[in-house]
Parts: sequence; structure tokens; C-alpha cells
Amino acid sequence: MPDVLAAFPELADVDDPDLREGVRDCWATACEETETDDLTVVPWFPPAQRKHGIEGETLVAHVRDVVAGARALADALDASRGTTVDRDLMLASALVHDVSKLYEFDGHEETAVGDLLGHPYYGVYCVAAAGLPVECAHVVLAHTSRTTVEPAFLEAELVRRADEAAAAAVRTSELDDLRDA
Ligand SMILES: [Fe+2]
Repeated sequence: MPDVLAAFPELADVDDPDLREGVRDCWATACEETETDDLTVVPWFPPAQRKHGIEGETLVAHVRDVVAGARALADALDASRGTTVDRDLMLASALVHDVSKLYEFDGHEETAVGDLLGHPYYGVYCVAAAGLPVECAHVVLAHTSRTTVEPAFLEAELVRRADEAAAAAVRTSELDDLRDA
């Protein structure tokens, strides 16, 4: 069974023990159910990787990019605007925002979950089954324009923007113009 904390050291920064356990359980269950023995080799997003020749990109690196980006945005806005971003909610949600990818792809091949449900709907189920709060499920559902659910609160908005920036950062290694993605 993969060591979730070793893959995502940021998990230790989630103060609330229930949230921390929920994130760990969410990934542990996903690994068990998808027979994922090594989280570190799970690809980021196989169709885009094939299209742009970036086969080596991993999901773990992407999730950690999103965590770092969301934190940087929260730091900037808390300092400049006096917002009080709920760091536990944002961090826990960012850590599980793409957990459904384990079910959407088997290696580089799309599964029935990916084909019939799309990204990231199954993540809502994963988050709920792990006992994480509905606010985390909202962040997961609203983190991408692949759903029609828009972010309802700042933590969800920051994770969504961080995800977009992280994905662009991956694509920019192979694209001269991001509009060609
Ligand atoms: Fe993502």
C-alpha cells in the first residue's frame, strides 16, 4: 500500500485530525480499489500527455504544484486583502482534487469511470466515502471547467486557479502557445 504522507508531505500541515485522516483514507482507498502500488508513477492526464509528448508527468507532482500554487495565492490575498483563507479546507481539498484520476485511468488507458462519468465527478463520491465534508466535495467538483459547478467560496476558487496554472506550467514545457493545448 503506498505511503500517502510520503507522496504528499503537505498532508502533515493539515491541522484538523479528521481532515488529515480523511485525505489519507481517500487516497489509501483509491489506491487499494485500483490496485495502485506505486502512487509516484501514476500519470497526470494521459490524453494530454500523449498529445503533447509529455509522458513523464505525474499526478503526484501535479497535485503538489496545485497545493503550492493555492497556498501562494492565499498568502498573497490574506496579506494584501485581509482575507482569511481556511487553510485546512483549502489544503485538504487541493490534496484530493484529482483523486478520481486513479479510477478514470488504468495506467494510460481510460476506464469506464473516465469514459462514462468524466472528470472529476467520481471524486465527489471518493471524498464523501472518506468522510470528508461537503465543502471538500465542492472544491473537487468546481476545480475544473469540465463541470458546470462554479466555485462558491474563495478556497474553491484558489484551488481552481492553481490547478489551471499548474496544468499550464506542464503544457508550456512543450507548447510555444498555450492556446494550442
Ligand atoms: Fe488537477
